[in-house]
Order: sequence, then structure tokens, then C-alpha cells
Amino acid sequence: MPVRALWFRGGALYLLDQRALPSRTVVRRLTRVEQVAEAIRTLTVRGAPAIGVAAAYGMVLAHRQGRYRPDRAAAILRATRPTAYDLFVGIETVRASWVAGEDVLAAADAYRGKIVEECHRIGTAGAPLLADAERVLTHCNAGALATVEWGTALAPIRVARERGAHLFVWVDETRPLLQGSRLTAWELARERIPYAVIADNAAGHYLATGQVDAVLVGADRIARNGDFANKIGTYEKAVVAHENGVPFYVAAPWSTFDAARPDGGTIPVEERDPDEVLELGGRRLAPVSSRARNPAFDVTPARFVTAFITSDGVVRPDGLARSLSRRAPRLAQPAPTGTGRTERL
Ligand code: MRU
Repeated sequence: MPVRALWFRGGALYLLDQRALPSRTVVRRLTRVEQVAEAIRTLTVRGAPAIGVAAAYGMVLAHRQGRYRPDRAAAILRATRPTAYDLFVGIETVRASWVAGEDVLAAADAYRGKIVEECHRIGTAGAPLLADAERVLTHCNAGALATVEWGTALAPIRVARERGAHLFVWVDETRPLLQGSRLTAWELARERIPYAVIADNAAGHYLATGQVDAVLVGADRIARNGDFANKIGTYEKAVVAHENGVPFYVAAPWSTFDAARPDGGTIPVEERDPDEVLELGGRRLAPVSSRARNPAFDVTPARFVTAFITSDGVVRPDGLARSLSRRAPRLAQPAPTGTGRTERL
């Protein structure tokens, strides 16, 4: 059975609780927009495309609740996480059909279908890049859990495997919340794709000693010039890959591209609870008096990106602006802008 991060049935949104994986499979049933907002905030559902789809269904639930006007429902969901552009695209897609008096569930279903289809096409477009890359490094989880189905970074790996490629995946553990060792490893193990989990600070060693043929990551928001935000630690991997001549690919659907933003300098970087750094699995690691900082994302300059893998094919950073003018979504209510530092919610 392919992994599915969420589904809508009988008036409720069902989420595979990503906090419980890999040790337990827990499904949450949500019927109110407030519950969807909380699920996004707590990373019950996570990954840019998946939170966009969850938020689209959150708007459907708000419509059924009958308590909120479309803008108020959108505001509840917009206040959850600031970085992923997909979140704002998902909300706006359903808000617009609500305002127009259209069928909001049909709008959310169509949005979900579009994301799944785009991810599959990302897999087809990216698989040939892995023809000479036996050992791929990935960061965080940009798999089916993060996108509903297929994944972004994991989609080319899945398609290349289907075509008979023998791939091996280095999985960054991805502190503080371990999306790599918990979630990416879970997805790869289910499909018997060979992998090894490595500590985040081991990636440089493997890149510098010729044991990585390509780096493949997802993104939370991509600016017009190709600067992009992704899980904290991505920037370091990109710099070290560049230093060692290892190709660095970023895979994303068009809902991740913020065409109105000229560069990455004002992408808001979410700052999360310091306890996520000070604790591991609920157990305190640092002395009780410790302070911590916890930026959830960093911004990588476009000059470190070899190419973007999109549903329309592989695009070099210098060709991005042209593709965006045709494909990237424009929002009636703009996505948040940041200061270039970290933003507390
Ligand atoms: O905080 P998370 O787990 O939502 O962060 C997710 C990532 O950084 C992913 O790499 C990104 O959303 C791309 S998912 C296809």
C-alpha cells in the first residue's frame, strides 16, 4: 500500500499522525477548522504540500461549521506556520471558491489531486538525473508524508527504483524533530529502498569523501531568483555539496514557488519552541537552566542549486523566472513576509 498522509471522507479530515511514527500508526479524525490549525501547528501533519492540502480541507470544515466568514476561516489557518508557501496557496484556493459560491469540497479535492499528480510528474522528471547517482543524500522528510502521496525529493528516487535503478539513500536524521530518521527512514523501509540514517553533522564527511553522488531535497518556499527555504540544516548541506562538486537538486510543486518574492531575504523563518531542542522524545537533555534557539528553516542562496525538479521538467536557477511567469500561483491575500531573521508566532 502506498503511503497516504491524509484523506477526507464522510465530512471529516483524517490525518496519519506524524508525531507518532514510526513506533505507532495513529489516525486522527478532525471535523473543525480549529483542529486542523492545531494539527498543522503541532506537526501532526507537516511538509509544505501536505499542510497546503490539509489547510484546503480545513477551509471545507470551516464552511460546514457555519461559524466563520471565509476571511476569518482563512486567518485561523494562516496563523499556524509562516514559511511554507503551499499553506497559503491551499487556503486561498478554497477561500476563492467559497467567496464565489462554488462547491468548496470539489475545490479542495481538485487541489489535492493536482498536488499528487504534480509530485508524480516530479518523480518522472527527476528520475533521469539519478541515472549516474547511486548514492543520494536527503534532508528532512520530503516524501509521501510531506506531500500526501509520492513526495518531492523522494518521488524521483521512487520512480528511478521502479525503473530498475539500484539506489542507496543517506538519510540525515534532521534534528530537532527527526523527520529524517523517523519519517524518511519509515517510508524507505516500507519500500525496501536501501538507506542509512546519519547524524546531521556527518553529512559533510560523506560529501567530502566521495560517498554522495547527488543531494536531493524539498522546499518550503522558493523565491523568484531561486533562493529557497527548507528545513534547518539544508543550507549547510548545499554549501558542502557545492564545495565538493556534488549536484544539489531541489524538488517542488508549483505551489511552493512564491513568484512575487524577488529573493530569499524576506522569506519568514519560523522559530519554534526551544524545548524541541532541549528535549528528545520528551526527555530533557540539557541542564534545566539552559536556553535554546530553534529556527525551523534556513534559506539557501540559488547559487548552490544545480537545478529545480518541477512537474514540468528540470529548470536551472537562471531559467526559473521565465517558468514562474507561466506557472506559479499568485495570491489575492499575500503570504507573510519576514525580516530575514527568525519569526516567533
Ligand atoms: O517542519 P516540517 O517538517 O514541516 O519541514 C518540512 C520540510 O522542511 C520539507 O523539506 C519541505 O516542507 C518539503 S516537503 C515536500
